Amino acid sequence: MYCVRNITEDLYWVGANDHRLHLFENIHPIPYGVSYNAYLLLDKETVLFDTVDWSACRQLLENLEHLLDGRPLDWLVVNHMEPDHGACVEQILLRYPDVKVISTEKAFMLMRQFGFHPDQHECVTVAEGDTHCFGSHTVTFVAAPMVHWPEAMVTFDVTNGVLFSADAFGSFIALDGKLFADEVNFERDWLDEARRYLVNIVGKYGPHIQLLLKKAGGIVDQIKYICPLHGPVWRKDFGYFIDKYDKWSRYEPEEKGVMIAYASMYGNTEAAAQALASKLCEKGCTNVKVHDVSNTHVSYLISDAFKYSHIVLASVTYNLGIYPVMHNFLMDMKSLNMHNRTFALIENGSWACKSGDLMQKFIDEELKDMTVLNERLSIASSMGADKNIELDALANAIIDSMNE
Ligand code: FEO
Repeated sequence: MYCVRNITEDLYWVGANDHRLHLFENIHPIPYGVSYNAYLLLDKETVLFDTVDWSACRQLLENLEHLLDGRPLDWLVVNHMEPDHGACVEQILLRYPDVKVISTEKAFMLMRQFGFHPDQHECVTVAEGDTHCFGSHTVTFVAAPMVHWPEAMVTFDVTNGVLFSADAFGSFIALDGKLFADEVNFERDWLDEARRYLVNIVGKYGPHIQLLLKKAGGIVDQIKYICPLHGPVWRKDFGYFIDKYDKWSRYEPEEKGVMIAYASMYGNTEAAAQALASKLCEKGCTNVKVHDVSNTHVSYLISDAFKYSHIVLASVTYNLGIYPVMHNFLMDMKSLNMHNRTFALIENGSWACKSGDLMQKFIDEELKDMTVLNERLSIASSMGADKNIELDALANAIIDSMNE
C-alpha cells in the first residue's frame, strides 16, 4: 500500500519509516525508529530526490508507482550515497530504464563502488552552483562535503524555496504519519533524538556543517521548506533549528548544566556521583543529569556531552586504568572532536587509585580546548562523611566556573 504526503502542490514525501532496525549504522540504538525520506516532484518532468534504505525499497517503489500513475520517472537526483539513502538507486535504475541521474562526481564513483550501473543511463555530473530546470522548477546544487560523506550535496529549488538538505537538519524517530516539524512537539519529543542523531553521526565534522550553514545563510530568506533525509520537514521556525545546528557544530553547549557520568562496579562510585548531584541541587544548580556509563549507550552520553556545559567523570580504577566503558566514552569524545567543555573528576580505587590522573591525562593530551577543575574528589573504596568538605569544594568549584 502506498503511503505518501503532500509538501507543496507538486512535491511529495515518498519515503518510509523503519521500526525494525535496532541499531542505526549498526551502532546507535533507535528505540523510536527512523524515517528515510525521499521526495518526488511532479513537474513537466518527474524528479525523485534520493532513495531509501534497502529495507524500505518496496514502500518507495509503491509510492512512486502510485504518484507517477503511468508517467515515466525522468530524473533521479542523488544528494547523498550512504546506503540508508542510496541503497535503492540501483532498483530505480532497473525499474525506470530511461531515468537520467544527477549527482556529484564522487557520488557517481560511490554508485559504481557499491556495484550499481549508472553508466547505462544518462548521467549529469553537477558541482557547486550548477542549475537544472525540470519544467517550471529550477534547482541549484550546493556542495556539502562531509555533511556527512565527501560526495554529499544539497539541492535548492529556487522556484518554490524547497531545500533538500540531505543529512543536515535530520533526526532519529519514525514519522509515523506526521511529516512537518510543526505537527509534533519538537522541543519536548524530538530535540534529544535530533541532537543524538546529529552529534553522533556528523559531530566530527562541525566545521563542514558551519560552512553549509554559511551557504544556507545566504539564501535563508528564500527558504520555505527544509526537507532532510530523516525526520520531519521544516516549514516554519527555521531559526530555532538552525540555531541548534549552529551551537552543536561549534561545540558550544546548549545549556549551563552538569552531566555526571559515573562508572561504578559495586555502587560506591555511584554513591559519590549521586552525593555530588544532591549537593549541586542543594546549592541551586538543578540542571543536572546523571548517567551510569555501564548501562547507557555511548550515543546518549555523547548527546548530553554536547548539551551541557559541564561534565563530571566519576570512575573506579580498573586494572590500574580507567574503567573500560568510561574509557570508551572518552575515546568517542576524541573521535568526534569534542571540545570546549569544563570537566570535574571523581576517582575511586581500593588500593592503587589511578583513574583520576589517567582521566586528567586523557583530557589534557587527547581532547582539545577542555578545562579540568583543580578540585577533585578522591575516594578509597567508599565515600565516608570525612569527604564532605571535598565534596562541597567540588560542587562549589563547578558552580563558580559556571558563573564565570
Ligand atoms: Fe542518513 Fe549519511 O546518511
